[in-house]
Amino acid sequence: MYYTPATDRYNNMTYNRCGKSGIQLPAVSLGLWHNFGSVDNFENGRSIIHNAFDKGITHFDLANNYGPLPGSAEENFGRVLKQDFTGHLRDELIISTKAGYTMWPGPYGDWGSRKYLVSSLDQSLRRMQLDYVDIFYSHRPDPSTPIEETMGALHNIVQQGKALYVGLSNYNAEQTKVAVEVLKSLGTPCLIHQPKYSMFERWIEGGLLDVLEANGVGCIPFSPLAQGLLTDRYLNGIPAGSRASKPSGFLQEGDVTPERIEKVKKLNVLAQQRGQSLAQMALAWILKDKRITTVLIGASSVSQLDNNLETLKNTAFAKEELDAIEAILK
Ligand SMILES: NC(=O)c1ccc[n+]([C@@H]2O[C@H](COP(=O)([O-])OP(=O)(O)OC[C@H]3O[C@@H](n4cnc5c(N)ncnc54)[C@H](OP(=O)(O)O)[C@@H]3O)[C@@H](O)[C@H]2O)c1
Repeated sequence: MYYTPATDRYNNMTYNRCGKSGIQLPAVSLGLWHNFGSVDNFENGRSIIHNAFDKGITHFDLANNYGPLPGSAEENFGRVLKQDFTGHLRDELIISTKAGYTMWPGPYGDWGSRKYLVSSLDQSLRRMQLDYVDIFYSHRPDPSTPIEETMGALHNIVQQGKALYVGLSNYNAEQTKVAVEVLKSLGTPCLIHQPKYSMFERWIEGGLLDVLEANGVGCIPFSPLAQGLLTDRYLNGIPAGSRASKPSGFLQEGDVTPERIEKVKKLNVLAQQRGQSLAQMALAWILKDKRITTVLIGASSVSQLDNNLETLKNTAFAKEELDAIEAILK
């Protein structure tokens, strides 16, 4: 397969400014946590990436440990870049990676030391065959490492030209406040925060979003579809091939509870009344908050991605619709 990017790729996407930075991100970004590893079909992943870029998705999110096997999503993404994103196309992409969770054995392959972050990013760059990433994240806060060391490592990485911007992921509001201050004092502002957020996971409403807004930091919620629960995927049980059916998936069969599916069914009716799929309504519900820069979705097929992109045609909610959603989620 020979890939030529669609010439109209910037015509239908919305781009939102990331906090108070110079960077704009597409309202929908694509993550490679699942479906792009060495256990997955390479050509399927490759067509999802092509389709995303053709539709204006410029932002692709990775981490050192994405696969399985850990590292293989970066390797596969690197292969696609090398094969298909030749010439100056790299300059049209915002590629992120992270370090913070277990990656290799011993005391230097986990958490937030300078040793781990710097060597992990070097490995990620080799796997993706890149000179630099656009965003490098501290993937989770490390209670045992001084925040000055972790943020200092991010700052140095930018100074060395290995990343253009830095971000935080999974830091709570208080930890974010401190980390953002330290980064500011070093002269490397925090570009973006990546928290888990969906109709089923609302902790960021309790303070984090305010901290981000006050500091001009963007927000890119991950698992906005609750890994597929907030779609029509599980309305009639757990289908073969779905994330919950796979041993390597992070969504377990036990997460698909009757109580949740009860709510999902009610939400699905509401979505139909809005003329949307449930996935589209779940994404629109997140994007209605102007503090959100982009939703970071996953997809196992081109058709899922296309379905999710249709969200952008209707992101407005009437007050009655929002009240009805709250009543279901209670
Ligand atoms: N920073 C962190 O700690 C962290 C943690 C987790 C994820 N992330 C990032 O966030 C990204 C997205 O996470 P996620 O994959 O959990 O996001 P998600 O969008 O909540 O879930 C994606 C899954 O939902 C299903 N799906 C998507 N669209 C659908 C549709 N239209 N209809 C039916 N089913 C649909 C697919 O599952 P099936 O496979 O069943 O088809 C897909 O793999 C990751 O790739 C990663 O980049 C970051």
